[in-house]
Amino acid sequence: MDIKSPCNKNIVLIGFMGSGKSSIGSRLAKSIGYTFIDSDLFIIQQKKITISQIFQHYGEKYFRELESDFILQHQNIKQAVIATGGGMPLFNDIRSLGYVFFLKATFETIYNRIHSSQDRPLFKDKMALYQLFLKRQNIYKEKSDFIIDTQKGIQNSVEQIRKKIKNLFPDT
Ligand code: S3P
Repeated sequence: MDIKSPCNKNIVLIGFMGSGKSSIGSRLAKSIGYTFIDSDLFIIQQKKITISQIFQHYGEKYFRELESDFILQHQNIKQAVIATGGGMPLFNDIRSLGYVFFLKATFETIYNRIHSSQDRPLFKDKMALYQLFLKRQNIYKEKSDFIIDTQKGIQNSVEQIRKKIKNLFPDT
């Protein structure tokens, strides 16, 4: 399946920490010949410090400003798969970047994936994480054009997204 040409809009992946945005995004980009961009990685490379250090030294508000800058800087990007940080759609018009896919996973799946991860300053304990998870679910839904159930693994999620893109551009 070649879905490259008329789909000039980007594919934007949103969802909670650990929902698979980066792993699904990089694989999807490769499979459809798009550029892969990870907003957290972009910020880390731009500022040359970790997300945790940004939160610690400059505060969350500053990090959110960097995320808004990221959106402004990528308004003219085409044919990219963009994996966003989990909080980015809360504070920004995420649809300005392209078609938005909400990667959905259960809390248990997410917790199992991220409980030993390092650079996630908002992950303090399981209960606080659960509260944040609950609070954000409707926002992700409202801010997305499509919802992808990621419980069946990375490759399955990639295929689901490819199918949706194919429906959007039947001639491709
Ligand atoms: C955040 C999620 C993180 C990162 C930052 C804040 C959030 O990205 O942007 O720690 O507010 O949910 P991931 O979703 O890639 O973990």
